[in-house]
Amino acid sequence: MELTAQDQQAVDKLVQLSHDTGLNIDGGKIRRTSSRFCLGVEHGDYNGTELFGVGTDRFIWLGYKPNGTKRIKLFSGNFPDDGVIEFGLGDVPEPKATSIAKTWGRFPYGVEYTLRREGCKLYEGVDAVVYGDIPGGGMSRSASLTLNLILSLLDASGIEIEDQFKIVELAQAVENDYIGSPCGQLDQIMILFAREGMGTHYNPSSRSINYVPLSTSAADLRIAILDTGTVRPGLEKSTYKIRRAECEKLVCLLQKAGYDISCLADIKDKTLYEKILGQFENQYPDLCSRLKYIFGAQQRFYEMLEAWKAGDLESIGRIFRTDGIGLRDDYKISGPELETMCDIARTVPGVLGERMLGGGDKGAAGALVRAESIEALKQAVDAAYPRSHPNYRNKYAVRICNMVDGVKVYDGLLGK
Ligand code: GLA
Repeated sequence: MELTAQDQQAVDKLVQLSHDTGLNIDGGKIRRTSSRFCLGVEHGDYNGTELFGVGTDRFIWLGYKPNGTKRIKLFSGNFPDDGVIEFGLGDVPEPKATSIAKTWGRFPYGVEYTLRREGCKLYEGVDAVVYGDIPGGGMSRSASLTLNLILSLLDASGIEIEDQFKIVELAQAVENDYIGSPCGQLDQIMILFAREGMGTHYNPSSRSINYVPLSTSAADLRIAILDTGTVRPGLEKSTYKIRRAECEKLVCLLQKAGYDISCLADIKDKTLYEKILGQFENQYPDLCSRLKYIFGAQQRFYEMLEAWKAGDLESIGRIFRTDGIGLRDDYKISGPELETMCDIARTVPGVLGERMLGGGDKGAAGALVRAESIEALKQAVDAAYPRSHPNYRNKYAVRICNMVDGVKVYDGLLGK
């Protein structure tokens, strides 16, 4: 099996971790789960829009083997200070317990808890080691970890769940109900279904996935992650939660006024949209601003899909940039460091579009860049970003990503 240098390094790291901790994964499997890049509609998932995105090559690798006991033992190379997380099946802390708020162990606890609650009780313990290179804030590190744990622990117990959307729901439930993060399903969908060379188009009305082959001219395009070096607290502590509540409030107001809608995505028709703005904008300018972004992004959605199919890089970039301006000015979910990155990127010839990524406030922005302009982008960021935000001068980074499969399993890499 051909391994990339990145995979090989991760495998070496897992083997080293298992030696250091005494966790036995010899002869076990490695499951690799990707990060994701949302191409549209950012913040559309909990508003009911269609979604489009790709898997990106920052990953979480989990090496595991059933251990013949009823105990789960895991160690993360990213959080070594948390030590070995060890617990008996059926014996995990209560959801959202303050005692576990700061340990990454809340993810495996939450997976065990949620699977049991949802009737997929695990009965086989494992030894496992984890390592990842997904930066926090914008690339769905938590969804990648949660999916990886669910798939790996189910596999160790020999439990198969055919319905992939059930897996998505379980992963969301771990974060919503156990961890306390109010995330939607965008991250899980874009990771679980991601395929190399394809964009994943999700349609919530038919709950279906449609793969869009990315034109070969899209191969000249690079995805740049502009990591600001800032750390965003959980979504529950950020503007994300407020925006969700605002969108729900507007839906509620509209329903009370007799509009037959169940989410903001239901407002697709221009006449309806203008009628609503006419009626509500004076009294609820902020709520109407949120709707403006969602409405605009939906209007651009099919044009964006066509541009990706055709490899029309200029349109791909322009739409991405327009979405970013809507997220900044109407949805107001960006942050100063994220916008500094966008402002810098926008000045570089060959950068086609840029915007904040994911949950918002902090973390990473992203840019769509012509391959030959990557160096110029890096130089521009190096010259300008540390000057604007000296506190993050040693923490920011520009990373270039490829589009990849969301889930891969390697068997036979860990000896007998
Ligand atoms: C976070 C959430 C997702 C989604 C994005 C914004 O990543 O976890 O559910 O709402 O923000 O698009």
